[in-house]
Amino acid sequence: MKLAGSVALVTGGASGLGAATARRFVAGGARVLIADRDEERGAALAAELGADAAFARMDVTDPAQVEAALAAASALGTLRIAVSCAGVGWAARTLDRAGKPHDLQLFATVIGVNLVGTFNVLRLAAAAIAKAEPLAHGERGVIINTASVAAFDGQIGQIAYAASKAGVAGMTLPAARDLAPVGIRVVTIAPGIFDTPMLGALPEDKRAALSADVVFPKRLGSPDDYGALVAAVVDNGYLNGETIRLDGALRMPPK
Ligand SMILES: NC(=O)c1ccc[n+]([C@@H]2O[C@H](COP(=O)([O-])OP(=O)(O)OC[C@H]3O[C@@H](n4cnc5c(N)ncnc54)[C@H](O)[C@@H]3O)[C@@H](O)[C@H]2O)c1
Repeated sequence: MKLAGSVALVTGGASGLGAATARRFVAGGARVLIADRDEERGAALAAELGADAAFARMDVTDPAQVEAALAAASALGTLRIAVSCAGVGWAARTLDRAGKPHDLQLFATVIGVNLVGTFNVLRLAAAAIAKAEPLAHGERGVIINTASVAAFDGQIGQIAYAASKAGVAGMTLPAARDLAPVGIRVVTIAPGIFDTPMLGALPEDKRAALSADVVFPKRLGSPDDYGALVAAVVDNGYLNGETIRLDGALRMPPK
């Protein structure tokens, strides 16, 4: 599928990996609907990107808001691409040092945004993309999810986050199978450690320590490394049902 001329929805598009994706898309000739619950940053990015970008305030856990964002995306042209970058991180152990169990509501909240929210976008975006005319080989579009290497090597304190991201990786193949009859591919990207506002609060020495375990290249991922892979996934019509690690061969240690 060609990026140029396509219309895309990017959730979490106001910041980090989603913002880099929106920039890539517009640079590549696509039109993009930036959907995020952060209105200030999302609207500012859309204004910066110009006529080929628009913003919709949207919480991925709210079906009506996702439907409204999809309608706004479809107003830009024929929607064929949905990228889910909205996500939250949380650090807490199953039992803390005092023996207190993990807060159950916190666990449910992380699952709610990262897994249920991603599925909410996937199912509603699929319904919207299914209305497009098929392209070559019957392809109508592609849905790209964001997991994390924590789906496979979750660290101490990442129980909720790792479970949510393992869920995203786990639904990739069945989603691709479910959506094959309508010609929609589903691919998940599992990033390693990326230099985004999620990490921005850390001091420089902590950030340097994080890149020490990266095998090669010895640096944190840049948001544009992620955007470049999203563009490659859109372009390659044979890529489907797979979770791709994007991590410089990093394997996360226990902590
Ligand atoms: N940065 C990393 O190292 C890294 C590594 C692996 C996976 N990821 C994943 O990549 C995705 C993007 O992360 P990032 O680093 O760009 O983070 P970020 O915090 O820079 O951006 C996340 C965006 O999602 C939005 N968001 C959060 N909850 C939302 C909700 N319920 N509805 C709508 N929007 C919501 C936020 O407002 C924010 O703009 C996340 O799913 C994250 O878990 C990040």
